[in-house]
Amino acid sequence: MTETPTRVLVLNGPNLNLLGTREPGIYGAATLADIEASLRAVAASASPAVEIDFHQSNHEGVLIDLIQARGSGAAGIIINPGALTHYSIALRDALTAVGTPVIEVHLSNIHARESFRHHSVIAPIAIGQIAGFGPDSYRLALLHILRRLQSDGENAR
Ligand code: DQA
Repeated sequence: MTETPTRVLVLNGPNLNLLGTREPGIYGAATLADIEASLRAVAASASPAVEIDFHQSNHEGVLIDLIQARGSGAAGIIINPGALTHYSIALRDALTAVGTPVIEVHLSNIHARESFRHHSVIAPIAIGQIAGFGPDSYRLALLHILRRLQSDGENAR
């Protein structure tokens, strides 16, 4: 029997390292470190506990390398691709290639903003998109992955 993966890969794209100071009226006051800490707290209290594998890069190629190196053994990938959401076929192809369930998250409601943000090239290959809930977008995505793990565990029993 194969072991259920208990690592969740969380990826953040360009400019998300600036959270806390970047357009706080849109993105809020939480820093990326705050978001990471809150995911780690949720993951640690899960049963069984899961590991949060958290990364940010301003570079498309680095994100693709991370997906290739760390995506396939993960229980799920939570990704906020930043502006890459709207045009990176290469990122989408990398996510498709590893075959791990993907949840696309955004702090802001991209559908209520400029029209160029309404389209996501990632959404069609994701199991879902969560947008507009600030740091809760990430937490909601993690809760869903935990729920999937729980039901996988129940089905294996
Ligand atoms: C974002 C939305 C994108 O349109 C933007 O380019 C970002 C952040 C969000 O989290 O709301 O960098 O992904």
